[in-house]
Amino acid sequence: MTTATAQAHPNIAFIKYWGNRDDTLRIPSNGSISMNLEGLSTRTTVSFQPSLPFDELIINGHEVGGAGRDRISYILDIIRGMANIHERAEVISENNFPSGTGIASSASAFAALALAGSKAAGLSLSERELSRLARRGSGSASRSIPGGFVEWQAGASDEDSFAFSIAEPGHWDLVDCVAIVSTIHKKTGSTEGHAITETSPLQAARLADAPRRLEICRRAILERDFNIFTSIVELDSDMMHAAMMTSTPALHYWKPASLEVMNSVRQWRSEGSQVCYTMDAGPNMHVICHEMEAQLIEQRLRALRGVQDVLVARPGGPAKIVNGK
Ligand code: DP6
Repeated sequence: MTTATAQAHPNIAFIKYWGNRDDTLRIPSNGSISMNLEGLSTRTTVSFQPSLPFDELIINGHEVGGAGRDRISYILDIIRGMANIHERAEVISENNFPSGTGIASSASAFAALALAGSKAAGLSLSERELSRLARRGSGSASRSIPGGFVEWQAGASDEDSFAFSIAEPGHWDLVDCVAIVSTIHKKTGSTEGHAITETSPLQAARLADAPRRLEICRRAILERDFNIFTSIVELDSDMMHAAMMTSTPALHYWKPASLEVMNSVRQWRSEGSQVCYTMDAGPNMHVICHEMEAQLIEQRLRALRGVQDVLVARPGGPAKIVNGK
């Protein structure tokens, strides 16, 4: 087979990946835990063609060159090496979620690319091998290969840095209500952020405490304990942003509307709702609640002044091969 199509979901991290011990191999400084986001997905077709002089990348109907294409070629080169083939590839990728919403598309994009690319090259990689391959493109993509609730063990080398499921999508009825507060493209992307985070004096403390947070979060998910989950998820997000804000140069992703959502979430919690927030490298807020309250939380978020839109996602499955376009 020289053509294959794969689909993968983005994910939201409950314990964040921020900082690498090896930036090139994307070996992270700490392990992380996330949930795949059902309903949001990237679908990518890779076809190796002898006639192509170089790799071609088309995202949402637009040809992409430069650094974006180089990042794809880097993964395709690894695949070509593994399969011992030399053909260049056409990569056609579509996201079903709007770009500029602050939902990182790199996780679903590199997970779909790793799966479709390796299949198209005639390889049958295991979930672990796929997770390692996706990781080389974007760290968080390693977590979009397995399904449901996923842990990425940091590891110390390419071989032992991969993600695996800790619970199926149906294990817990969590819903992520993503409150979009800004669609402006962020100035500093994650890759640059990882590279400077060691300059924060808070990063060492964040890393030293990571095994404890991972253990608490893993257990809270397995035992479906929302109160413990809330305390560790908000702490972990705030710790990452504290490290971001105190790195050189400083990264400030919080906007007034992000704070408005944080304060509202705390208020709703004090009124009895089971709800918590987490933020990635951008101002949009991921507000996590149970299925039972999802509609109410969505409505409340929409009523806030600074919230432009709300996307609602439930726990999603693994990356998978699908029929072509
Ligand atoms: C804040 O995986 O996007 O979303 O490996 O450079 O592509 P690269 O970084 P990326 O970093 C994700 C950072 C985060 C936290 C997380 O998803 O764990």
